[in-house]
Amino acid sequence: MSNQGTPPHGGGTMVEPDGPDDRTPARLGDSHDGSDGQGRRGTVVIPDRFENPGLPAHVHRLADHDPAAGRRAERQVATMFGLSMLATLVFIVAYFAIDYTTDVFIPGVGGVNLLHVVLGVSLAVSLLGIGAGVVHWAKTIMPDTEIVEERHLQRSSDDNRAKAGNMILAGGDAAQLGRRPILKYSLGGALGLFALPFVLQVAGSLGNPTKSSELAETLWDITPRADGSPGQPIRLVRDPELTPVKASDVTIGSVFHIMPETLKDSTHVLEDKAKAAVLLMRLDPAQFSADEKGRKALSWGYQGIVAYSKICTHVGCAVGLYEQQTHHLLCPCHQSTFDVTRDCEVIFGPAKRPLPQLKITVDGSGYLVATQGFTEPVGPSFWERNEYVN
Ligand code: FES
Repeated sequence: MSNQGTPPHGGGTMVEPDGPDDRTPARLGDSHDGSDGQGRRGTVVIPDRFENPGLPAHVHRLADHDPAAGRRAERQVATMFGLSMLATLVFIVAYFAIDYTTDVFIPGVGGVNLLHVVLGVSLAVSLLGIGAGVVHWAKTIMPDTEIVEERHLQRSSDDNRAKAGNMILAGGDAAQLGRRPILKYSLGGALGLFALPFVLQVAGSLGNPTKSSELAETLWDITPRADGSPGQPIRLVRDPELTPVKASDVTIGSVFHIMPETLKDSTHVLEDKAKAAVLLMRLDPAQFSADEKGRKALSWGYQGIVAYSKICTHVGCAVGLYEQQTHHLLCPCHQSTFDVTRDCEVIFGPAKRPLPQLKITVDGSGYLVATQGFTEPVGPSFWERNEYVN
């Protein structure tokens, strides 16, 4: 083997292989087309194998040579495990001691169920304590020298494979499955049926664990007065400022994120927001389609201002993108697209139903109000959904 010479620093690579054993590595800056990255061309040899760089030199940790540091790390690990034990005890006590109907107000979050919060936080601390303790233990006290385990061949020898095959066939012969098919089929039936109780439990628990009506109700629902007359309309307020919106504020092409005014009285703010979120847009009335869908959308709005649920009917993401030119609402999760000019019918994507429209008008002061709740459940489908469609 001979190389044609070592190229000068910064010069082109002029390495010619002289035989199959040439192992000269390509240099940094060599390109695949054979040029050296500066426009000069040469022959580049990519070696079949690289030298094993080996492991980096082992760096000793403090606890490896200082017994005091080792004891300190030991105490730190034990403290984390102790914290975990404490949190687990809190979990157990809270499980029995806290009334599951108790709500608390957490600034920035809103009303939350106290039991759920305590159980969640204590369980998190409990797991975190164990995890952090184990990691700290491994990093500071356990040996950290790297060990290489050579792989052996996974495949058995031909001899062993043949023996295993013969044993299986002999087992089949001994069980006489071929000669007594009734045994084969009855065993198959018994094993198949045995799986059913497990399938039933899973399928049976797929039903709605909450009251279905909770999924159908939103804060937009208006309670009738005692005499049966319609209740007080609910003002539309901006999210998150919760300030009411006048019809004159909504210019053509604008879009508002809306909540019901009653949200401020809610004790389950997050759950109620998740169902009541609405998008408000104004179109030129002439832009609505002339068919039945367009007429319905227009008549449920106010002078071209229309309000639709923001919760995607596919799997419930927030439909947050409004294309002003096309009047399309787009869900960013799986790109379902809804046409506002045709009552938010689905024109693309996996959603199967239009976004429910909220019927609105203005009150005596010119503020936008909802005169009734949604006439169908918002968001994704659930098994009893059709029972709540008006
Ligand atoms: S959740 Fe909107 S498209 Fe899937």
